[in-house]
Amino acid sequence: MEGWRGVIAIDGPAASGKSTLARRVAGELGLAYLDTGGFYRAAALAVLRAGEDCDHEEESVAVVCRAAIAQSDGRTSLDGEDVEKEIRTQRVSEAASKVAALPGIRRILVERQRRWVEDRGGSAVVEGRDIGSVVFPDAEVKVYLTAASDERTRRRAAEMTEDTEPEEVGESLARRDQKDISRAASPLHRMPDAIEINTTALNPEEATGEVLKMVHGCRATE
Ligand code: CDP
Repeated sequence: MEGWRGVIAIDGPAASGKSTLARRVAGELGLAYLDTGGFYRAAALAVLRAGEDCDHEEESVAVVCRAAIAQSDGRTSLDGEDVEKEIRTQRVSEAASKVAALPGIRRILVERQRRWVEDRGGSAVVEGRDIGSVVFPDAEVKVYLTAASDERTRRRAAEMTEDTEPEEVGESLARRDQKDISRAASPLHRMPDAIEINTTALNPEEATGEVLKMVHGCRATE
């Protein structure tokens, strides 16, 4: 189905399978793939490296303004250094959830994310928490991805390279979800025009098939 143009927004809670799905859909359609969580994670790493507090807006904004965050093929770099491994640690996950609640940080990163897609001709598969609501409210296809919390914990524990107890992984996911849902700035919620896909009992091929069906449907109505 190469040749399809537009934005496919994939939002949902932590470890619901967004990255796996977004990569596969992008591959099938020949589209670019943007992991906006990688931007928040790299921003948090920049703040941590600068020795600032991730809850302090003014200091964090000053650091992130100067930070060069780039992404290509789903790999994130900070000031020219590939930080893909470092940003997936528990420490950076917790810090990302804090900086993501700061409106000043969101303003900077949302603008950079829009520009990233613009630079690729305006078409991409974009995953995050506020893609269908704030970053691309006019996205052609909007998906809200969920999965049972036990399954999300199992998946995240399996992909982590650090030695972390599954219990700790589950608590961290729940803590971040709660913060993402309850924050004032761009909270996570399902948009009325987003189609919910529950991946608890779906394998990646099946979930990808569901999204491709939506893309087909969207083309038919053009
Ligand atoms: O991979 P996982 O689902 O655990 O998280 P992520 O997508 O890498 O995002 C890391 C953190 O960034 C989340 O806990 C959110 O607080 C924040 N985030 C956000 O607020 N808005 C986005 N568009 C993407 C991520």
